[in-house]
Amino acid sequence: MTFPGPRRSLRGARTIVQAVDGVDLDIQAQETLALVGESGSGKSTVARCVLGLVNPQQGTITYEGRELGPVDKRPAELQRAIQMVFQDPGSSLNPRMTVAAIIREAWKVHPAVAPKGDRRQALADALTDVGLDPGVADRRPSALSGGQRQRVSIARALALRPRLLVCDEAVSALDVSVQSQILRLLVDLQRTHDLSILFITHDLAVVRQIADRVAVMRKGELVECASAEEVFTAPSHSYTKQLLGAAYDLEGAGRSFETRGAVSGE
Ligand SMILES: Nc1ncnc2c1ncn2[C@@H]1O[C@H](COP(=O)(O)OP(=O)(O)OP(=O)(O)O)[C@@H](O)[C@H]1O
Ligand SMILES: [Mg+2]
Repeated sequence: MTFPGPRRSLRGARTIVQAVDGVDLDIQAQETLALVGESGSGKSTVARCVLGLVNPQQGTITYEGRELGPVDKRPAELQRAIQMVFQDPGSSLNPRMTVAAIIREAWKVHPAVAPKGDRRQALADALTDVGLDPGVADRRPSALSGGQRQRVSIARALALRPRLLVCDEAVSALDVSVQSQILRLLVDLQRTHDLSILFITHDLAVVRQIADRVAVMRKGELVECASAEEVFTAPSHSYTKQLLGAAYDLEGAGRSFETRGAVSGE
């Protein structure tokens, strides 16, 4: 998947803000690309371009060689192929719906993914896949923990059998221990569901646990894109060094950065 130069202008009362300019990224099959950068650097704007929620003024988003337009102009099969997990399941899950209804809703839009007669089993499988007891199907989001709610969000996205999962700060609202459980789940699901993941975060500790490659954004531009190992051990851009320096300060000097391959189970 390549999206050379998605560029977005946001028209205010008098000014035009160039949110993202000249970002050229690609994601391989079964790869996790982390998109990092400070607040306002344009990460979510890139995600919205990939999902087709905003249209780049210049540049294109392509998926397996096909150019993707805005979401409502995408063929159903391509809408399905790219799914999103948001930061806050508290607000992205409808509080009035049960977990079962939330997941079944996805199949109303894309019925061919789970034929009607198979949906009871498909629902149980969708929940089991994300480590939830199928018994939670009758509960509402308010009856679940933050981690369980984020598992429901992931189940809802995977219910459509996407090829690319876009996670925008998907673990940022969770406690550190729950965060690592969800990150491990995503790493497992990536393998079992043959997924590519665009993982947006401002948290380098999270990047270290999940990323194969890291793209660093600053003020709407891509400043560096390299393997996680390279970025953590030999960053080339001064801004990346600055980000890593800040993370080192937070985590204690001298602590080494492990990349995904070195992460062990709990
Ligand atoms: N709807 C909007 N109207 C005006 N400006 C916007 C809008 N959405 C985003 N921006 C601006 O575009 C730039 C990029 O924003 P974006 O949300 O993509 O950043 P981000 O990297 O996701 O930040 P965060 O880490 O805070 O989520 C920022 O300068 C932001 O203020
Ligand atoms: Mg954002």
